[in-house]
Amino acid sequence: MFRKETYIARREQLRKDVGSGLIVIPGNHEAPCNYKDNTYWFRQDSTFLYFFGLQREDLVGVIDCDSGRDYLFANDYDIDDIIWTGPLPSVRELAASVGVDNSGDLLALKACCDKAVGTGRRVHFLPPYRADITLDMARLLGLDPQAVGRYASMELTLACVKQRSIKSAEEIEEIEKAIATAYNMHVGAMRMAMPGRYEYELAGFMQGEAWKGNGPVSFPVIMTVHGETLHNHGHNNRLELGRMLVMDAGAETAMNYCSDITRSVPVGGKFDERQKSIYEIVLNANLEAIRVTRPGITYQEVHQAASRVLAEGYKGLGILRGNTDDIVAAGAHSLLMPHGLGHMMGLDVHDMENYGQINVGYDDETRPSEQFGLGSLRCGRRLQPGFVITDEPGCYFIPALIDKWRAEGTHKDFVNYDELEKWKDFGGIRIEDDVLVTDTGCRVLGKPIPKTVKEIEEVMAS
Ligand code: GLY
Ligand code: MN
Ligand code: MN
Repeated sequence: MFRKETYIARREQLRKDVGSGLIVIPGNHEAPCNYKDNTYWFRQDSTFLYFFGLQREDLVGVIDCDSGRDYLFANDYDIDDIIWTGPLPSVRELAASVGVDNSGDLLALKACCDKAVGTGRRVHFLPPYRADITLDMARLLGLDPQAVGRYASMELTLACVKQRSIKSAEEIEEIEKAIATAYNMHVGAMRMAMPGRYEYELAGFMQGEAWKGNGPVSFPVIMTVHGETLHNHGHNNRLELGRMLVMDAGAETAMNYCSDITRSVPVGGKFDERQKSIYEIVLNANLEAIRVTRPGITYQEVHQAASRVLAEGYKGLGILRGNTDDIVAAGAHSLLMPHGLGHMMGLDVHDMENYGQINVGYDDETRPSEQFGLGSLRCGRRLQPGFVITDEPGCYFIPALIDKWRAEGTHKDFVNYDELEKWKDFGGIRIEDDVLVTDTGCRVLGKPIPKTVKEIEEVMAS
């Protein structure tokens, strides 16, 4: 946990931004896997973590905008629990540890909500993303469970986005710890990426490294020789010479700050000419994004700058043809990168995605594009110092998509489909870093993880 003053200041700011009413922020419950007591690893809700910092399950935080009081509600454990769990702090002690003066049990929470609803006060809550919390909110506020989402507060959502988008120095320190763990995950897996190994061995190694850093992985590991499938979660392939291996994985710290790093390496440790040619194009796009990222530019513009580098590179290989700006304006290059350049990252790997992506990545000024590829950009808005965003261009030869576009004649003036046929068995490449927007530009966070052809070949030979 951070010092309690951090949480007090965050709640005070939220109270100011929301203005009036009662804010209810539920923490998560344990989630049963195959029976009640055999649970998935516990993951606290990120909003709860941000404002209340506590890792215990079944807690509910309440922030009263009008009285200025904060509350923590939960039932205390009794001896029947403590036999299994060992001694645990009381709810009152937990509350005090994060600067909350008022606490009570779940009956007191219900009474607090009943009173607010009964007197016509506004009760602010975020759109729930778990079924159990949806039912809790329905019961607490007397709502139809099917309709709970409709009563979620846009004022609260936007106030949370405003605050959580700007990372403080202590948050950056946590994120860099998560990247230090990702360094060990990636460099270790690079050295293992030899013919005859299986993807699951490397994926398992990465998960072990994450837990060694005292947290889980920040999302299910992507470790695949079929990187053309963007979020390929299968790990059953044997590594063979000639394949590129896409490794997209990150860790969470004990406080649940995340990293999200992708490296793509040739199985066996030596790039062949074809692999090098595509790799250099994607690397140049990644570097171009770092070159132009600064306060005031929109991330849509950064995406387009990286796209121009990709299009230029594909022209050099004879895959695309025509004027680069025209290719990018038409979106023809998106055949080979159907996703956005990046997303915010913090307490969630896709930060705040539970608030609704449009509320996090866009605003009145910047709206999502409807174009294939650019339309998948999760964050398009103008950058501010303190944003942490991923820079993750890629190149994917997706046979089904190539065949579809070819059959339809999509962008046939720009795409040399005959040339593209030669690449259909290539797979994919993605390169991803986590980047902090600074006052004057940006900084790639964490200890540098081997990224150039030379650095990767050297580390894989060692
Ligand atoms: N880890 C999924 C992504 O890069 O967004
Ligand atoms: Mn990733
Ligand atoms: Mn990412």
